[in-house]
Parts: sequence; structure tokens; C-alpha cells
Amino acid sequence: MNFENLVFKQEGNIGILSINRPKALNALNTQVLKELDEAIDIIEKNDEVHIVVLTGEGRAFVAGADIAEMKSMGSKEAREFAKNGLEVFRKIELMEKPVIAAVNGFALGGGCELSMCCDIRLASDKAKFGQPETGLGIIPGFAGTQRLSRLVGMGRAKELIFTADMIDADEAYRIGLVNKVVPQDDLIEEAIKLAKNILSKGQLAVRFAKNAINRGIETDIETGMAIERDLFGLCFTTEDQKEGMGAFLEKRKPNYKLR
Ligand code: CAA
Repeated sequence: MNFENLVFKQEGNIGILSINRPKALNALNTQVLKELDEAIDIIEKNDEVHIVVLTGEGRAFVAGADIAEMKSMGSKEAREFAKNGLEVFRKIELMEKPVIAAVNGFALGGGCELSMCCDIRLASDKAKFGQPETGLGIIPGFAGTQRLSRLVGMGRAKELIFTADMIDADEAYRIGLVNKVVPQDDLIEEAIKLAKNILSKGQLAVRFAKNAINRGIETDIETGMAIERDLFGLCFTTEDQKEGMGAFLEKRKPNYKLR
């Protein structure tokens, strides 16, 4: 993978994708969004990568959408720009493979929104979160008004968005925006440790669970339960189910094959 604003590394079955535009604190412009879209397609098709860690180079995860690019936009262009971001983030959210955000610094505006389309958020103790858009005379445009309230509840989402205040990693943990806070120097190692834990389980099952949780949260509970029932049934068509249950009964470690 060869991109101007992204770095991709692979460690075993773990893909580590970094936003690499540190001079602008990894701000998301049209080019970065386009590269991210292409990179996600490549990673999703890569059979060697089973899980993704998404992070940022330098002192930011992502400090937001690019204000310099947005400043002169008219309404039509702004809608188009938002559409691009919304589509890429939705693609990340709907990837079959799990995605862990390793939030290494500022996660503001589009950066907070990017972390929220990932499945799990690990934050370094140096990370800062916020939706500063109202301070710029706009509202979040990459689904911040939608995903933040789903993650932390409407009251906290409204407070964060109306005030445009930044919060530190401990506060983000307290309100349920991040799963865990770890020392800055250990962030990637901790993300890899978590990824390896997930990788030791049946990956088809993990993917089905992701699908059931994502689709279930967007519908009523009866429909959600029907989705779960169907995917539960689907698990029993896989070799991984036979292997997982067989290994338990034979008192050995399972050897999953993603089949
Ligand atoms: N867009 C464009 N450039 C940005 C940027 C952004 N979102 N964030 C930072 N930068 C640039 C700065 O302009 C600066 O560039 P120069 O060196 O060329 O001047 C460089 O990154 C370093 O930034 P600072 O000098 O400002 O660094 P700092 O340590 O003093 O402050 C910060 C760090 C608090 C994160 C500050 O940069 C900041 O407030 N950034 C903007 C955050 C923001 O408002 N994000 C929301 C954007 S709107 C959005 O995201 C809409 C949406 O939902 C789609």
C-alpha cells in the first residue's frame, strides 16, 4: 500500500493503519478521506489481515476535518465533503473485520467521529476528545451528532457538542466514550495485545457478532433478536463452530480456520 497520507504496517494478522499528516495534526482533507476509503477496501480484501488498529502519527490521532479546506466551501460543497466523510466512516463501521482505534492524541471533530466509527477505542493518557464544531460556527459533519449520543447518551452528547469543550482521556473513559486508558508509550502494544486476544477467538464468530451488534442497535429489539438468531444459526454451518466446541470437549486449544 502506497499512500501520501497513510502508513500501513502488518504484524501477523493485525493491520496497523496510521493517518500520517502530522504537520496539520492529521486533519482530514478530501485527499486523506479518499486514501482512507481506498485503504479500507484493500484491507477488507486482504485475507492475511483479520483485525485492524487505526491510529495517528505524531501528537494527534486526528484534529478534525481540514478547516483550511472547508473555510471557502459553499453549502453544496460542504454537503459533498460531509457525504465523503460519512461514507468512509460508515465503510469502516461496516467492515467485516474488527477495528480498534488507538487514540494517541487529539481526537477532535472529525477525529472524534473517526474514533467512534471504530468498534473499540483505546486511548492514551495524552488523548483529548471533543466536538469543537459549534466553536467554528458549524455542526459535526461526519456523524458526530449521531454516534456520540448513541455512545454516551443524549445529555452528554449535547453538552459536548453545544459547549465545544475538550475532555481528557479519563473523562472520556468516565462517560463511556473510550473502553480503556493506557500510558502513551504502551498504546500500540496494548492495542496489539487486545487484537491478539480477539484473534485467539473464532474470527467468523467475531464478525457475525459485530454484524449483529451493529445492525441490532439500529433497529427495534424484536428485529435485532431475529438478526441474532439467524447469525447464531449461521455459526453452525461453519467449521469453526465444530472446532471450537470439539476443542472444548477434548480439553485442548481450538485451531480456528475462518471457515
Ligand atoms: N484543520 C486544518 N489544520 C489544522 C487542524 C484542522 N482541523 N487542526 C490543526 N491544524 C494545523 C494548524 O493550523 C497548524 O498548522 P500551521 O503549523 O501551518 O499553523 C498545525 O496543525 C498545528 O496546530 P496548532 O498550531 O493549532 O497546534 P496547537 O498545539 O496549538 O493546538 C489543537 C492543537 C488544539 C488541536 C488546535 O490545532 C485546534 O484547535 N485544531 C482544530 C480542532 C478543530 O476545531 N477540529 C474540528 C474541525 S471541524 C470538523 O471536524 C467538522 C466535521 O465534523 C466534519
